[in-house]
Amino acid sequence: MTKRISVICSHLPKARVFADVGCDHGYCTQFMLQNGLCERAYISDISAGSLKKAETLLAEFLESGQCTAVCADGLSGITEPCDCVLIAGMGGEEIVHILESVPLPQNFVLQPMKNSEKVRGFLIARGARITKDFTFQDGKFYDLIVGSSGGNEHADERYTDFELLFGRDNLLAPTEDFKRKIRRERANLRKRLTAKMSVKSREELLAKLKFYDEVNDVFEDDL
Ligand SMILES: C[S@@+](CC[C@H](N)C(=O)[O-])C[C@H]1O[C@@H](n2cnc3c(N)ncnc32)[C@H](O)[C@@H]1O
Repeated sequence: MTKRISVICSHLPKARVFADVGCDHGYCTQFMLQNGLCERAYISDISAGSLKKAETLLAEFLESGQCTAVCADGLSGITEPCDCVLIAGMGGEEIVHILESVPLPQNFVLQPMKNSEKVRGFLIARGARITKDFTFQDGKFYDLIVGSSGGNEHADERYTDFELLFGRDNLLAPTEDFKRKIRRERANLRKRLTAKMSVKSREELLAKLKFYDEVNDVFEDDL
């Protein structure tokens, strides 16, 4: 099991019905079923070829009826409510596309590959409560966003622009992984700014760099 899969699995709550959307190999569902963390599970993937990998891995659970395989876009082929939904390893816009057409699941674990701020913005606008939101490194940097539907009616639960961009836990208690990500991203942005580009593109990059510089300054002050 890779560190990424292991971090995701360690944040999956117990569930009655668990859904692994965009399951591909199906490792997280295997973890849930083998450890008795859910009564039943759905594995879903838009690609029949990807789904086949999970079907092979989870053959015994499919045979026993504890697991159901669905080849579909997002949750569209799943006909019963799932109290925990995992969507990992795809872009943030795709995750929002999947979630915007359904009621928000009671519990969710999301691991966007990019555009995490769009996922956070969508969740907050839907009144979700984000309980864990942090960056970790497994070669690349990944964000993990864990939460539940409802419970965010209070204004103080609103995310600031910084929290939307970086994730709340990263700002409250920055880990070494997160600090490394910020330093690397600042260096990348600075490098990109040395190239020729339109005035608009330069302004956008400079505005982004300002956010990263400000977050980095907070770490430096803490040293
Ligand atoms: C990189 S894999 C990630 C697999 C696994 N969830 C993980 O984190 O290791 C992304 C998977 O999402 C699937 N996928 C992409 N868009 C999807 C959608 N709208 N609905 C269902 N599956 C989707 C792809 O076919 C692919 O198998």
